[in-house]
Amino acid sequence: MNRRQSLRTESATIDEEFAAAVLAGLSAAPKRLPCRYFYDARGSELFEEITELEEYYPTRTELAILREHAGELAERAPPGAVLVEFGSGSSRKTEVLLDAMPNLGAYVAIDVSASALGGARRRLEACYPRLRVITRTGDFRMPLDLPVELADAPRLGFFPGSTIGNLTREEAVRLMGDMRRTLGAGARLVIGADLLKDEARLLRAYDDAKGVTAAFNLNLLARINRELGADFDLAGFAHEAYFDAGQSRIEMRLVSLRGQEAHVLGRRFAFAPQERIHTEYSHKYTVEDFQALARRAGWSRVAVWRDAELLFSVHELIAP
Ligand code: SAH
Ligand code: AVI
Repeated sequence: MNRRQSLRTESATIDEEFAAAVLAGLSAAPKRLPCRYFYDARGSELFEEITELEEYYPTRTELAILREHAGELAERAPPGAVLVEFGSGSSRKTEVLLDAMPNLGAYVAIDVSASALGGARRRLEACYPRLRVITRTGDFRMPLDLPVELADAPRLGFFPGSTIGNLTREEAVRLMGDMRRTLGAGARLVIGADLLKDEARLLRAYDDAKGVTAAFNLNLLARINRELGADFDLAGFAHEAYFDAGQSRIEMRLVSLRGQEAHVLGRRFAFAPQERIHTEYSHKYTVEDFQALARRAGWSRVAVWRDAELLFSVHELIAP
């Protein structure tokens, strides 16, 4: 039996891992929901809208850094390398590398969002007909299985977006260590990390004027209603972004606007007025802090690039 699809509501099959994570997170104190579940089809669409917002500087800034240095990255990429991207989403940034590296052996895109992967695959296959595109729907923390004929090809890892910032520091070290083992000795990893900056700028990026980030956060409750037959009243919760200076991270939460209950898979959850559900961390690093994490995971520095405003950093690392 497929573990991800082994429970049934009256209407449909449900994802058992999602159900278990939601029940465990809502039973915890304080309540929390894992941010990887933001990305159903609607969540992936909303994330793409976020990337277009004036307030959300990371996407355009990282793209500009990548465009400026793609040639240098390409010079150091071995011919026939397999480009492995973690949390690839729409794969828009990937195109900058694909244009600079016409001799790749294959492109492997890993993402939890099947809809984002499907859209990216269709676009890349149309734009790069000679490129072999392999998609893997699932958690990038799990071991990667590649076709046997690619087992010995050199690998280049790509982890843009500062998605690494959505993990705690300890989780980030563990994941970068796993990536080093997956990619193999001598492999390189190109990884984006958002930089620590003034609080007002950060808060604007995570609480935009149009309310797109609020919709992205609330979509998690909408997804629980859709997929698990729950009865969250979305109007009873509000989006909140908070900057924890001590931990150097944005925290996103959903705040209960009144005393209320919600029912999920036959379980009742009570919310006090102002009670918060934690939904996401987004860590902000200095270059030195991030390099220290990378070193703990066994990576060495090749190059680090920042934009002129010092908003975002891209690190090229090598596994010795
Ligand atoms: N790399 C893109 C997208 C970043 S958004 C960019 O830089 O713009 C984060 C992406 O990571 C989303 O597409 C989301 O679905 C994916 N993601 C988040 N957690 C994941 C996990 N644990 N495993 C696999 N994919 C994950
Ligand atoms: C994917 N990730 C790095 C985004 C971030 O900035 O932490 C997700 C996001 N959350 C709110 N806005 C965007």
